[in-house]
This record gives sequence, structure tokens and C-alpha cells, in this order.
Amino acid sequence: MYPRIQLAGLLLSVIVLVAGQDNSSVFDFPEYPPPLTPPPNQTIADSVATLPANETGGDPALASALIHFDTGKFGPPVELVHAYFDFWPTGVAVSSDGRIFTSFPRGNESFTLAEVNSSTTEKPFPDQDTNTPPAFVNASNPGFSIVTDKFILVQSVIVDGQDRIWALDVGRPRVNGSTLMAAVPGGPKLIGFHLNGTRFTTITFPASVVFADSSLNDVRVDLRGDGFAYLPDSSPQRPGLVVVDLKTGVSWRHLDNHPSTSVQVDLISFHNGVPTYIHPPISPFATTPFNRFAADGVALSADGEYFYFAPLSARRLFRIPTSFLKVQPSALNPNAILLANQAVQDLGDVGSHLNGLESDDQGFIYLTAPEHNAINRFNPKTGMIEPFVRNPFIQWPDTLAVASLKDGGNFLYFTCNQLWLSPDYQNGTDLRTKPYAMFRVPIEGGKAKQL
Ligand SMILES: *[C@@H]1O[C@H](CO)[C@@H](O)[C@H](O)[C@H]1NC(C)=O
Ligand SMILES: *[C@@H]1O[C@H](CO)[C@@H](O)[C@H](O)[C@H]1NC(C)=O
Ligand SMILES: *[C@@H]1O[C@H](CO)[C@@H](O)[C@H](O)[C@H]1NC(C)=O
Ligand SMILES: *[C@@H]1O[C@H](CO)[C@@H](O)[C@H](O)[C@H]1NC(C)=O
Ligand SMILES: *[C@@H]1O[C@H](CO)[C@@H](O)[C@H](O)[C@H]1NC(C)=O
Ligand SMILES: *[C@@H]1O[C@H](CO)[C@@H](O)[C@H](O)[C@H]1NC(C)=O
Ligand SMILES: *[C@@H]1O[C@H](CO)[C@@H](O)[C@H](O)[C@H]1NC(C)=O
Ligand SMILES: *[C@@H]1O[C@H](CO)[C@@H](O)[C@H](O)[C@H]1NC(C)=O
Ligand SMILES: *[C@@H]1O[C@H](CO)[C@@H](O)[C@H](O)[C@H]1NC(C)=O
Repeated sequence: MYPRIQLAGLLLSVIVLVAGQDNSSVFDFPEYPPPLTPPPNQTIADSVATLPANETGGDPALASALIHFDTGKFGPPVELVHAYFDFWPTGVAVSSDGRIFTSFPRGNESFTLAEVNSSTTEKPFPDQDTNTPPAFVNASNPGFSIVTDKFILVQSVIVDGQDRIWALDVGRPRVNGSTLMAAVPGGPKLIGFHLNGTRFTTITFPASVVFADSSLNDVRVDLRGDGFAYLPDSSPQRPGLVVVDLKTGVSWRHLDNHPSTSVQVDLISFHNGVPTYIHPPISPFATTPFNRFAADGVALSADGEYFYFAPLSARRLFRIPTSFLKVQPSALNPNAILLANQAVQDLGDVGSHLNGLESDDQGFIYLTAPEHNAINRFNPKTGMIEPFVRNPFIQWPDTLAVASLKDGGNFLYFTCNQLWLSPDYQNGTDLRTKPYAMFRVPIEGGKAKQL
């Protein structure tokens, strides 16, 4: 007993000392729940129930006991909008007239960018020809990875604030399911289309900006002024961010190998409660932590002043003022790299590794949470992560897209693609089940346009 009493006395004197200097309360933390948070009975995934008779040992007193359990659900209603019966999806983008665009990071799939043309089918966008690089005509043609006017592997598609489509082609053909071929300048590209399918720009990258082993994963465009595009390079070897001046097409890198863009090497992520490792079916068959993808999901704040990003293989969110990214490192700006590295803000742990990020015009940053079958949101005003939607059908939420529809309604669309069940994580066995799914949930805010 003696040491405990002593400790209590010590604690008391510390509290008195603090109280004497400062009358602020330890309960003076930012307002929570913040405005717009659904009522607790919609955010807390808890309920109570009795257990079946065979699980209470036949004891009538236990059979009537109401035991607390997790329903797996909270938040706004989740609506299934598309079922994918053919190809495995990543990207989704929705125009103001409700057209839905989606991308397939293909191996030998016949198209990689598509428009949804019924609730269960997709058609190539803008057409089949643009989705057919020469290698698909002549498989032995070694030049296939430098094709610039055709798609190789479209990882991501977005609709910008002017209702235009941007397709991000990683430019690395994927063969035999998982082997990514090297990128060659001209292959990786950003292509802009009007909604009618007319191309308005094609931006390629020099070898000093997008490397042979680079893996551009997503894109956001800021249309204010002359305009910039920001793209994460999720390559675990050389992660970083790529910035494009949309007026000149000139591009450069920032945050190369910075901790904020890099993988957490010892991450073990959990899906449906099961620890997930990389367990590839190829030599040397070695199991590793879940460390394959670096800077992955990105979002631009509603006012365009902050670029948010997160490595897929980590549970942290970061942001950087875009003013630092817009400065091209060069003899004219020799300190640009140092200053950008120092401007990164670590927003802390977000409770799940994450890939998709998206902003709305109220300032929220929506965050996928594949480890919780959920989408949460970061509130920059409070610095807190808020619960948003959780549902057992949210099986690896991959890409998020906010749309404000002309016919009414603001929605957050997202694809669910069961990535952790694919062969690379399951020792060569494909545990995914078709169809893959696209859902949407209503949100209060609208599309952030950065015009
Ligand atoms: C703290 O003390 C100051 C000065 O005595 C007073 O004006 C203020 O209202 C107090 N704040 C709280 C939260 O009690
Ligand atoms: C939450 O509580 C309110 C007020 O008691 C009630 O009207 C509403 O139906 C409840 N919602 C759910 C999802 O239970
Ligand atoms: C009770 O019965 C269900 C359904 O037959 C079965 O799945 C479960 O394992 C049983 N529980 C126990 C404790 O035996
Ligand atoms: C969707 O597009 C595909 C490919 O062009 C086509 O075969 C299919 O008939 C279309 N379905 C609908 C419902 O329009
Ligand atoms: C395919 O491409 C290879 C390499 O460029 C070429 O040698 C071959 O003739 C081509 N085959 C056909 C059928 O075009
Ligand atoms: C793809 O698989 C085929 C058949 O197993 C093999 O011949 C070929 O070398 C593989 N290609 C690559 C790039 O791994
Ligand atoms: C190509 O696609 C077909 C049909 O989807 C599949 O059966 C085949 O195994 C694939 N081949 C390779 C090399 O990926
Ligand atoms: C497509 O839309 C753009 C932008 O509205 C327009 O400039 C262009 O002429 C259209 N192209 C066709 C073929 O209709
Ligand atoms: C993984 O698959 C290989 C090849 O089928 C097999 O030899 C090995 O035992 C498997 N490992 C595990 C942990 O299942």
C-alpha cells in the first residue's frame, strides 16, 4: 500500500501546481462531435442481442441476457450503383450529368478505361481503339510500352472542376497477372478528354521525372490560374510526388523518399479481422509485411491550398501546402526540395492503412479505411478523424469520388475491389469473388472544384 499512497500524493501536488498556473480544463478539447456528425445512434455500430440457445449452455438466465455486439454498420445508407462482372476495377469518376467512368489496371483485359453503360456492364471510353495498344495486336512487339496515343494501364480516372475527364496511364504493361514491365518515356501519361470523348491534352513525362520503376497511382488537378496537376508515385523503391504545370506540360518531382511518401516497412494490415501479408506465388516465395505501395491516395483541399496524401502501406495522413509543390527545383530555385520536405505536415495516425482520399467543398477529407470496412473523414478545423460510414459490404474501398449531380444530390462514390484477396496476397490463390462493387453514399457537401 505504501508506495501507492505516495504516488497518489505526488499526483495531487502535480494537479494543484497545474491548477495554480492555468485554469483551463482538460476537457477543453475541440467540439466533438463536430457539426454535421450524424446522431450517435447512427454512428455507433453497437447493439445488443440474445445468443442462440445452443450457445448459452441451455441456461435460461443466460439465454435471455442481452449481450453487446458490433453490428458492423454506421452512417448514411450505402447504395449499390454498379456490379462489375468482368474486369477488376480501381478508379471511379462521375460527371455532373451522372455519367460514371471507371478504370481497370489491366493485364490482358481488352480495355482499361470505361464508361458504365448499365448497372452491370461497361464499355470502353472513349473507344476500343484508344484502349488497344500495339502489343495487343502483336504480342511480341517490344515497342508496346512507349505508345503515347493509346492506353496501356489506366490506374486512375477523375472528373475535374470543369466536368472534364483525366485518365492517368501508368504506362507499364502488366503481363501474366502480376509482372509490371518497365515504364519507358511516352508510356506513362496524363490524358484529358471532354465528356464527348474528344482529347484536349496529352502530357508525358521525361525519364528524370517518371522512372522505369515509377508507378503513378492517382491525380488531382488544380485549375486555378494556369493550373497544376499533382500525382503520387507509389513505387516502393523511389516514392515521391510528381507535379505538372498544365500550361507548359513541364513536370518535376518533390518529396522523393521522404518519410511521408514512403511505406511503413513493418505494416501488417488486417482485413475482416485477418492479418494480411504479401505472399506472392513467384520466386522467392518469401512472405513479407504489407509493404508494397507507397504514396497512393491523394486529395486537394477545397481551396486548393493543401495537397493531402497517404502511403497505402502505412496508417498516416500527410499534407503539404501546394505553394511548395508548385516550385520547380532548379538552379533558379535551389532550395525548393529542402523547403518542400520541411513543409510536410504529419497529421497523425488514421487507424487504418488507406488508398483512396477525396475532398468536398466543406473542407472534409474523406479517407478510405480498408481495415475497418469503412470510410472516415478528416476535419481540418478540429484536427480529428470522424466516423462517416461503415458497412460489412465495404470490402476494400479503393477509390473515392465526390459528385454534385445536376439532377440533385451530392454523393461520395467508391469502388470496392477486394484487393487483399488477390493472388499476390494469398499465395497464388484468387479468393476474390465477382462481382466487384461500386457504391455511393449521400454527403452534405458538394464537389470541390478548385476553379
Ligand atoms: C480562467 O481565468 C481567467 C482569469 O481569472 C478568467 O477570465 C477565465 O474566464 C477563466 N476561464 C475558465 C475556463 O474558467
Ligand atoms: C436515432 O434516434 C432518433 C431519435 O431518437 C430516431 O428518430 C431515429 O430513428 C434513430 N435512428 C436510428 C438509425 O435508429
Ligand atoms: C450452435 O449452432 C449453430 C448452428 O447450427 C452452429 O453454427 C454453432 O457452432 C453452434 N454453437 C455451439 C457453441 O455449439
Ligand atoms: C455496353 O457496352 C458494351 C460494349 O460496347 C456492349 O456490348 C453492350 O451491349 C452495352 N450494353 C448496354 C446495355 O448498352
Ligand atoms: C510483331 O512485332 C515484331 C517485333 O516488332 C515483328 O518482328 C513481327 O514481324 C511482328 N509480327 C506481326 C505479325 O506483325
Ligand atoms: C509470361 O508467361 C509465359 C508462359 O508461362 C512465359 O513464357 C513468359 O516469359 C512470361 N512473361 C513474363 C514477362 O514474365
Ligand atoms: C488472359 O485473359 C484470359 C481471359 O480473361 C485468361 O483466361 C488468361 O489466363 C489470361 N492470360 C494471361 C497471360 O494473363
Ligand atoms: C467536344 O466537346 C468540346 C468541348 O465542349 C468541343 O470543343 C468539341 O468541339 C466537341 N467535339 C465534338 C466532336 O463534338
Ligand atoms: C504456397 O504455395 C506453394 C506453391 O503451391 C506451396 O508450396 C506452399 O506450401 C504454400 N505456402 C503456404 C504457407 O501455404
